[in-house]
Amino acid sequence: MSYFPRIASQLYGEGVALSDLAQTHGTPLYVYSKKAISDAFMAYKNALGKHEGLICYAVKANSNLAVLGLLAELGAGFDIVSGGELQRVITAGGSPNNVVFSGVGKSHQEIQFALEVGVKCFNVESSPELERISAIATSMGKTANISLRVNPDVDAQTHPYISTGLKENKFGIDIKTAPQVYEFAQSLPNLNITGVDCHIGSQLTDMTPFLDALDRVLALVDTLEAKGITIDHVDIGGGLGVTYRDEQPPAVHDYMVEVLKKLEGRNVSLMMEPGRSIVANAGILLTTVEYLKPTEHKNFAIVDAAMNDNIRPALYQAWVNVENIGPSDATAQSWDIVGPVCETGDFLAHDRSLSLSAGDVLALRSCGAYGFTMSSNYNSRTRAAEIIVDGDQAHLVRERESFDDLIKGEALLPKSNQ
Ligand code: LLP
Repeated sequence: MSYFPRIASQLYGEGVALSDLAQTHGTPLYVYSKKAISDAFMAYKNALGKHEGLICYAVKANSNLAVLGLLAELGAGFDIVSGGELQRVITAGGSPNNVVFSGVGKSHQEIQFALEVGVKCFNVESSPELERISAIATSMGKTANISLRVNPDVDAQTHPYISTGLKENKFGIDIKTAPQVYEFAQSLPNLNITGVDCHIGSQLTDMTPFLDALDRVLALVDTLEAKGITIDHVDIGGGLGVTYRDEQPPAVHDYMVEVLKKLEGRNVSLMMEPGRSIVANAGILLTTVEYLKPTEHKNFAIVDAAMNDNIRPALYQAWVNVENIGPSDATAQSWDIVGPVCETGDFLAHDRSLSLSAGDVLALRSCGAYGFTMSSNYNSRTRAAEIIVDGDQAHLVRERESFDDLIKGEALLPKSNQ
């Protein structure tokens, strides 16, 4: 089913005409479908079935409070990488007991906060981090559950910027040295070893690298068992890709079946950290055509959204589908969709055949993940508003930023005496 159907030549978000949303709330505007998010999450949860485990949504993909609140209600855990993300989860009604804390650079303050609220587990990425967590836990009289993020050295065959499982990446602990690091963890006070985790990259469209990584992780679990170190859970990270254009990633269910097969007969629970595959296709970005600027070489459609609103095309040459939300009488031509930011790299799409007039509203599909969360205020642009549609209802879940938001906390220098 389509969560953004076209009905009588008008594009909808569930049962809400996107033209109405653009008119009421202005553009650029992120619109998410509640049902798309729920269905995508439930595909994971249902596939897990009765197997012990937890689906920890990767907050970085889309951290809007309403999105987190919805997922918490559906029984999600959360994968966080900062104190800010942890605060968001708590504010949205999520339980810290269902939170795994990932990331290479956890600060003293963040670890202390995570221990205070009682996160489920720290996914630890280095020996110095183990020492830091142990020292802080000891000073607080607490015990920290830890898992080591190992680097299984498999090639995720995705964009180099979002591939994380190779030994030259900054992430994780080399799986070959992991047994020694586990022994080191065992020697430190106030740490409780509970798991092994890995995350090999993002937007993977083939499950082979995931399954290879899992094989290596399970071999490590066996090595650890032999050393008397018991592992309760394996966390295989996130990374399952989505269709932006014509990619054909495995269905969540099929992927999970293969993963669970590998865990058969083992007494370990399964944790996962999906982000993109839960929210990417649940969101679109609406933008209005400001000017049409045909030139001798290229036709530019200058729109009101820019790289600050959605940096994925500029940063990863990511492809997003662009369509006019309404009918158009204009002749179809090839257009570059570009924003107002003063950078040549500020584009959203190249060479798209579209029928366009100034004032038309365009929808950029599949922008629900790493869209708003990677947006910035570059060029002193206020960040977009966000809406969740639910049937025929639309909820404003983030106001458009104002100029006051933009300068919050800034100050002028004192007046000089001259
Ligand atoms: N767990 C860890 C430890 C991660 O680093 C990530 C993503 C995830 C889970 C979630 O992965 P997902 O299921 O979303 O693929 N900004 C890039 C993606 C960066 C992903 C970073 N880590 C993009 O827009 O493509």
